[in-house]
Amino acid sequence: MSAPSIAPSSALARGAFTTTPTPSDPYCYQVGFGNRFATEAIPGTLPLGQNTPQRCKYDLVSEQLNGTPFVAPRASQLHAWFYRIKPSVVHKPLKRWPKNPDLEAVFSALNPNTIFTPQDMGWDKFPLPEPSQPVDFIGGLKTIAGHGEPSLKEGLAVHVYMANTSMQNKAFCNNDGEMLILPQEGRLDIQTEFGRLMVQPGELVVIPAGVRIKVSLPDGIGRGYIQEIYGSHYVLPELGPIGSNGMAMPRDFEIPVASFDIDHSNTWEIVVKLAGELFGYEQNHTPFDVVAWHGNYTPYKYALEKFINSATVDREQSDPSIYCVLTAPSKVSSIALTELLVFTPKWNVTTNTFRPPYYHRNVATELMGMIYGTWTGSATHLEPGGLTYEPSFMPHGESYKRWKEATSADLPPLRVNERAIAFMMHISGHISLTKYALERTGKLQEQREDLWDDWSGGFLDHLSEVNQDLIKAGLPPLDKLNKF
Ligand SMILES: [Fe+2]
Repeated sequence: MSAPSIAPSSALARGAFTTTPTPSDPYCYQVGFGNRFATEAIPGTLPLGQNTPQRCKYDLVSEQLNGTPFVAPRASQLHAWFYRIKPSVVHKPLKRWPKNPDLEAVFSALNPNTIFTPQDMGWDKFPLPEPSQPVDFIGGLKTIAGHGEPSLKEGLAVHVYMANTSMQNKAFCNNDGEMLILPQEGRLDIQTEFGRLMVQPGELVVIPAGVRIKVSLPDGIGRGYIQEIYGSHYVLPELGPIGSNGMAMPRDFEIPVASFDIDHSNTWEIVVKLAGELFGYEQNHTPFDVVAWHGNYTPYKYALEKFINSATVDREQSDPSIYCVLTAPSKVSSIALTELLVFTPKWNVTTNTFRPPYYHRNVATELMGMIYGTWTGSATHLEPGGLTYEPSFMPHGESYKRWKEATSADLPPLRVNERAIAFMMHISGHISLTKYALERTGKLQEQREDLWDDWSGGFLDHLSEVNQDLIKAGLPPLDKLNKF
């Protein structure tokens, strides 16, 4: 076959775009949120024109994994086809693992290990395990809060993880929900059936339910946050009048390329999470033996620094939805199960505007964490690796001192959140907190009894002025109606 005829001054791409490795990330990725990808570590191993030929090349085995029912509308279908050395079913019977007392999945008033409370609260940086105590990613999972339960495929859980040991011949498979992981300290080198991802603080990674992963800690430690959603999938928010560009751009989401190991001499253990309980089974081959795959039910990562911050530039405040990176639909039409909001550096240039977050009582529950930098909120203390909780409908806002400053300050253009990333999980349900969060972290902050005692209510200083205006308008003055 002769080479295609190309004019001397022309160039021809040799393949689809993949990213280039960096000093902190040795892997390359395909790009594009929600694309249908095709990737093969050995050329020619993806069958053409069909998924299940009678015999795949090199006797590979075809296996499908899906994240939506077969009859789901085409636009929402999520699935992938693997071409692997041995099918996943080749394993020994399951055994129950010892219960992790810090792991919860059922958030109900009937579960004595979780408690609903309308009291806001905060935690300082969650502690890493002692170096003398080896803890891997699975052992380091600790549940903070949640609502619903995975057996109903309704609700979510929020966990933290603190680990100091890489998983060896072991993989984790979460059958309960899709996990959005935000490393705060230490990179996660995540081997998946789809390939490898290196995820560093400042990035998020999403692992769909039912996908096996092995987590290594190239920096020796790992701490971070996880939001696990039951029965739903993360999607990009609609853009409305923003148009087709801005916020989190689909092209900035990175998806692994096929990568496989050959290991038929070691025993591997696969740990499965179901309804918050752990089970394990052994097999005599690596689960990471996928030579080629295609589909759209994949893990992916995204660097939060790439978020296009489109917050207000004239006057007034945008709703916090302007900071939404990913959202997940609930089963109620037009109500999100959760939204992940990210607070990245931006210019604050608004005129005649109260610039700090306005005082509010939200239907949604707010859980905030911080990846790095300094939090500037005046009524809460949030440090990297810590967390704050604002329950649904409970009031919150800035301190009196901050209010005084903000209502009398000049308003020059200001760069804010420089070298800082904080995030908020904006959760539609009432969440219950676990006994681990309330009793065992050792990092729960004391309630500040006198936090709001200095609020004087400046309106009362203006009563004579108010009365003059009322009289001028032909109305009775206030002091005739009330004793102050
Ligand atoms: Fe809030």
